[in-house]
Amino acid sequence: TSRVTVPDFVKAKSQGRKLAVVTAYDFLWAGLMDAAGVDAVLVGDSLGMVVQGKETTLPVTLDEMIYHGELVARATKRALVIVDLPFMTYQVSPRQALKSAGRVFKETGAGAVKLEGGVNQSRAIEALAAADLPVMAHVGMRPQSVRRIGRMSAIQRNEDQLVADARAAEAAGAFSIVLELIPRGIAKRISAEVKIPTIGIGAGPECDGQVLVTPDMLGLTEGFSPRFLKRYANLAETVRTAVGQYVQEVRSGEFPTAANSHE
Ligand code: KIV
Ligand code: NA
Repeated sequence: TSRVTVPDFVKAKSQGRKLAVVTAYDFLWAGLMDAAGVDAVLVGDSLGMVVQGKETTLPVTLDEMIYHGELVARATKRALVIVDLPFMTYQVSPRQALKSAGRVFKETGAGAVKLEGGVNQSRAIEALAAADLPVMAHVGMRPQSVRRIGRMSAIQRNEDQLVADARAAEAAGAFSIVLELIPRGIAKRISAEVKIPTIGIGAGPECDGQVLVTPDMLGLTEGFSPRFLKRYANLAETVRTAVGQYVQEVRSGEFPTAANSHE
C-alpha cells in the first residue's frame, strides 16, 4: 500500500470513511502507529507536555518540531505525516508562517503542517495554501491560547465563533480542521457545513475523524483522564510490572541464566 496523500485524506469524507489519527514523536512509536494502520500521524506540539514534561506547549521550538518530524516521517511508510507549527512560529505574519512551514517541508518528510486558529489565522492559511503547502487548521480549545483562556480543559462553546473559524479555515484553503473540546452539536453542525474533513478530540462522534494523543490513549499518562479520553491499554502498569520484575531478578540473580549467556 502506498502513502496516504493529502487528496486521499480529504477524499475520505466524501467516501464516508472515518479518519483515525494519532500522535507520535519518534521513530519507534511512529513505526508502531503506522503498522497499526492509522490514516495520519500528527507530530503534535503536545510534545512539550508528553515528551518534554513542560506544563504547556508554549516553549516548544520549530527546531524541536523539525527534529521530531524528521524521525516520524522516516519511520512511516503509509500514514500521512502532519507536523504542528509551534507557538509564535506563524502568529507574527503570513511571511513568518511561510518561512516556518517551508523549513518543515524542506527538512522533514512531512506531508502537511498544522497551525492553531481559524478567522485569526486565515491570512497565514492562505499564504501556505498559495505556496502549495498543505495546512490543517485547529479550532476550539487551542492550547497555544492557554494564557488567554486560562486552562487547557476549558470547553469552547461560542457557536458563532466556532462556525466562523471553521468556515474561514476552509475558505482560506485548509485541507482539514481539528476540532478540540467543543460541544458535540456544534462539531456536528461544522462537519455538515464544511466540505473538508473535521478531526475531533473531545468533539463527539459526528466529526469526520478522531485524533488522540498516543501516550494518553495507551495509558502511559495515568494522571490525565478527561471525559473525552478512552484508554485502549494500560501501558504504564505493564511497564511498572515488567521493569519491577527485571529489577527483582537482577538483584536475586535469577536473570541472566545460562540461556542468556555466551560460553
Ligand atoms: O499537539 C497535539 O497533539 C494536537 C492534537 C491533540 C490535535 O494538536
Ligand atoms: Na498541537
